[in-house]
Amino acid sequence: MSRHAQGIEAHGGQLINRVVTPEQGQTFLAQAYTLPRVVLDERTTSDLVMIAIGGFSPLTGFMEQADYDSVVTSMYLSNGLPWSIPITLSVSEAIADPLQEGSLIRLDDPSGRFVGVLELTQKFRYDKVKEAINVYRTDEEKHPGVKVVYEQGAINLAGPIWLLQRDPHPQFPTYQIDPAQSRALFQEKGWNTIVGFQTRNPIHRAHEYIQKCALETVDGLFLHPLVGATKSDDIPADVRMRCYEIMLEHYFPTDRVILAINPAAMRYAGPREAIFHALVRKNYGCTHFIVGRDHAGVGDYYGTYDAQHIFDEFDPAALGITPMKFEHAFYCTRTQSMATTKTSPSSPDERVHLSGTKVRELLRRGELPPPEFSRPEVAAELARVMRSPVEA
Ligand code: ADX
Repeated sequence: MSRHAQGIEAHGGQLINRVVTPEQGQTFLAQAYTLPRVVLDERTTSDLVMIAIGGFSPLTGFMEQADYDSVVTSMYLSNGLPWSIPITLSVSEAIADPLQEGSLIRLDDPSGRFVGVLELTQKFRYDKVKEAINVYRTDEEKHPGVKVVYEQGAINLAGPIWLLQRDPHPQFPTYQIDPAQSRALFQEKGWNTIVGFQTRNPIHRAHEYIQKCALETVDGLFLHPLVGATKSDDIPADVRMRCYEIMLEHYFPTDRVILAINPAAMRYAGPREAIFHALVRKNYGCTHFIVGRDHAGVGDYYGTYDAQHIFDEFDPAALGITPMKFEHAFYCTRTQSMATTKTSPSSPDERVHLSGTKVRELLRRGELPPPEFSRPEVAAELARVMRSPVEA
């Protein structure tokens, strides 16, 4: 794992910055009404941002065919760096046809605001079923990640991008800490080893347990909930962030923990997404990354520990971030503590483990998750939101 004055190296060696300079911005804005226009969806807008702020280093834009094919078939970019998820801008043939390779394209967010520019270096067709099977390990449309692939356009537009400006996040401006800032913050705090935590669910005690177990062996914990697009039945990001604020107030040493948003979209690609999540956290400056049970999984598509096993397929030096793997954690009624089968003498009937799905069912029935599963302050907050007709 190579380090220099700025901490751990970004993936590929250099933290990418594709946010325009004021001069570039003026030049692009002057062309606002003459450039051909493509409207991005929520996920692609967040991909644009992630590329621009360096979260997806070494990517400087949407993938060209050589990278796309190599990532889909072998989990490497064409330059040999590990990369497990295609990052593409897919549009319909009708939209792609008039666009000329070599030209600049105005990129709008879903509300029609001019947010970025693509230098279109390549347009290419791709095989959706192959992408689904290789990346998501299924061709079933009911898989939420596969569904997105099947619904998107048939042509990928590729090339480097620029982001016109880095706006504060509309909901969580104080938690918007971009990779250059998180790296600086880790330096400032004197942390040499930092473990990143990805999540898309309200924090529960198994999360807390594995976060704290990990923190026992490193200098700092980077709590990094994903707040980009998720599937419709996931708990909204503002609720999840409030649960984190509650936990930091009552249950965490705040000098050892940083809470920040990951503005990316969820793919639900299980093992491949675990690699991707780790590389993104490496770009934020983390040296370690937590991978628990069924990381980034959905339904029964992946084995419980597939997202851990996939790390063994890579040279650890090429990944450059160390996975911290945790078994399925539960509350053990015999020892009255959180544990896993590695650390608990319990029989199955002495283990309380609930899934996010089960908790959502409880809340919908108006019941609070038990204290063995959720801290009471978090359970109360979840119950409050589920009762509220506006927010639920
Ligand atoms: S995820 O899609 O972002 O992975 P979630 O927010 O539930 O979903 O999980 C965040 C992290 O905690 C993942 O690494 C996941 O594997 C881990 N995790 C969740 N629940 C448990 C548990 N009971 N035991 C061990 N690890 C868990």
